[in-house]
Amino acid sequence: MGHFLPSELLDHICKPYQRAGKFAWHFARGKLDRDPVFAHILQARYISHHARVLDIGCGQGLLAALLCGVDNYACAYPEHKAEFKAVSITGIELMHNDVMRAQQALQDFGPRIRIVQGDMRQTDFGVADVVVILDVLHYVPYNEQNDILKRVYACLSSGGSLLLRVGDAAAGLPFLFSTWVDAVVFALRGHTSVRVYCRSLAEWKDQLENIGFKVTDIPMHQGTPFANILLHCRRP
Ligand SMILES: C[S@@+](CC[C@H](N)C(=O)[O-])C[C@H]1O[C@@H](n2cnc3c(N)ncnc32)[C@H](O)[C@@H]1O
Repeated sequence: MGHFLPSELLDHICKPYQRAGKFAWHFARGKLDRDPVFAHILQARYISHHARVLDIGCGQGLLAALLCGVDNYACAYPEHKAEFKAVSITGIELMHNDVMRAQQALQDFGPRIRIVQGDMRQTDFGVADVVVILDVLHYVPYNEQNDILKRVYACLSSGGSLLLRVGDAAAGLPFLFSTWVDAVVFALRGHTSVRVYCRSLAEWKDQLENIGFKVTDIPMHQGTPFANILLHCRRP
């Protein structure tokens, strides 16, 4: 497994999670260190200076912690210093425990971060320049996924984008392994239903393009045994 963020930066970003308890801190460190998607989001510069970001299924708010943490950190990523100062981030999360951890950890960043408890199938998305959905959509049935993607398209400003990470159901063993790990972690986090609704990469792209997105797919499982793909979906 790889390490994707410099260790001093990782320490800095994860520090606020100490006040949300040991589990929150260890989880933040493990995920931000080992999952390639977070460093990729920084390096690819998908999020511009004044972006309104909506993180759907935000868990304990790792993306918000990353953007705000890197912002006031000069050593490892000087090129990112103050880059996200004017960015606002709204997170929507179903699980009360995750919402509490996120709110406790991120309280010092002020009103530009808002974490709301809600079900993505009903919660209003407002208006956003970048919507991020990492490893979430497969938890709801296909027709509900399609509704959510249409609502995301409608909530995006012109030229805005959706960053959607999914598993590729056509990827064989790595996909089966991802699904098994996902079910275990999901149950450990307190969910009662672990049924998932997956699609192949080709099916995801078809659905997104039918809605109107221009889609680029980027493998996002480097250093892991999974079959994850990041779909960068632009609203023209
Ligand atoms: C695998 S975790 C990913 C968390 C976060 N996106 C990340 O990458 O750190 C999936 C998250 O989606 C949330 N979730 C699942 N179904 C949801 C729903 N219907 N509405 C909102 N959040 C949901 C789960 O509670 C969980 O926190």
